[in-house]
Amino acid sequence: MTAIVPSAPSPGAPPPVDAAHDPHLSGLFEPVIDEIDAGDLEVVGELPSEMDGMYLRNGPNPRFTPLGSYVFPLEGDGMVHGLWVSGGKARYANRFVHTPMLDAEIAAGRALWGGLMTGYTPGAEEVGPALAGAMKDLPDINVVRHGGRLLALAESAPPYALTPELATRGRETFGGSLPAGLCAHPKVDPRTGEMVVFCYGLEAPYLTWSVLGPDGSARRTPTAVPDVDVPVMIHDMALTERFVVLVLGPMYFDVAAAMRGGSLLSWRPEDGTRIALIPRDGGPMRWAHTEAFWSWHSANAYDTDDGGVVLDYVEWSRPGGLSPNTGPVVGGLSRAVIDPERGAITRDFLIDPHGMEFPRVDDRRLGQRHDVVALGTKTGRHELAGGEFDAVLWVDTAAGRSVTWDAGDLSVGEPCFVPRPGDDDATHGWWVTFATDRTDRSSWFVVFPGADPGSGPVARVRIPVRVPLGLHGAWLPTEE
Ligand SMILES: [Fe+2]
Repeated sequence: MTAIVPSAPSPGAPPPVDAAHDPHLSGLFEPVIDEIDAGDLEVVGELPSEMDGMYLRNGPNPRFTPLGSYVFPLEGDGMVHGLWVSGGKARYANRFVHTPMLDAEIAAGRALWGGLMTGYTPGAEEVGPALAGAMKDLPDINVVRHGGRLLALAESAPPYALTPELATRGRETFGGSLPAGLCAHPKVDPRTGEMVVFCYGLEAPYLTWSVLGPDGSARRTPTAVPDVDVPVMIHDMALTERFVVLVLGPMYFDVAAAMRGGSLLSWRPEDGTRIALIPRDGGPMRWAHTEAFWSWHSANAYDTDDGGVVLDYVEWSRPGGLSPNTGPVVGGLSRAVIDPERGAITRDFLIDPHGMEFPRVDDRRLGQRHDVVALGTKTGRHELAGGEFDAVLWVDTAAGRSVTWDAGDLSVGEPCFVPRPGDDDATHGWWVTFATDRTDRSSWFVVFPGADPGSGPVARVRIPVRVPLGLHGAWLPTEE
């Protein structure tokens, strides 16, 4: 069963949005409401016998029709979809991330909170004193496992801990060490086991970074990033052995404008874009300035032998959809080479920019030199919503080659790398993602061979329900 339920809002609450005409509430993004478990799934082709673990993917999935506004990809109840693979067989389950706000709405049988742009929150008479006036928690963007925790991640807010079977444990503050939470794209250093995070906020300190040790305890509590004196939106980060890398596009929160009925977010290209290089050893930080661009996502970064930093990321001329400008914007995989001492930076597209996002590398290479970056991309042959792709692109940055798999009638999500257990060679692993057919809305888990991904899937697992298009995922090998 699909379809979100139109609901009569409380008196004083904004009316429901027109979900049927919102591209991120309809079509392949249309939310699902059932939480199901399904085993022994149909496999077309053959799942690699060594593949053993779970692929989890999060994404916005409003349980009820949003009230007043809906801004993709920043809001919506989180739903995690899981695909377990072992011994050539697969099972599936999906669960909402059950925040107290979502559970209050489920108990009421309707939406109670207004969309982000409305600022509307329900009163104590509807949700009790503990939730009255609170903003809705939105752990709907990503999922990560670290330090014994499985976390559904929000945008610079506390994440929610999940059980291995995706039941919600509750809001996670790491023993009170990170009360404001963390970003949706923390990075786990495969060499040290540390998870490095940042968090932005509407009040000073506007930007902090923290480090969690391999055991999940705070090794560095939130530390202010200097010279950031306005609230700025930053979605992703990168890590090298020496530096935390943050791209600060000129996208500011403007609470005063929002109070006057204007936009909460303000794009000011005249300020240019700054890249912060924060030494992980606590030394003085470095800035590099360049002309304005926007980046949602980084692929990876690494230190070079001559003291520089390479950052591969998807560059946009501006944040389409969130900035007030109109007209098309096109994203492309780009490489920034930064000289930390001089603050100099050069940027070049690694491939003709033609609309791509969700860059991923083999996570075992995070912070070190990588070769292949995989992305979702658009062939241009189909009318697709923002965040929807009809092809997967692999760019070999070392060899200067790329290969595309045209997904035909399938819309595909973010690619994710699955290593072959005990084998460091990435060409012996696989790339996986969820995909949904635009003609019959059937959903699939697809597996590409790392050695020749452009040849297409070696296995497709039929999911017995539709998996709405979403955001970010992770492959989590079965733990010993
Ligand atoms: Fe993201």
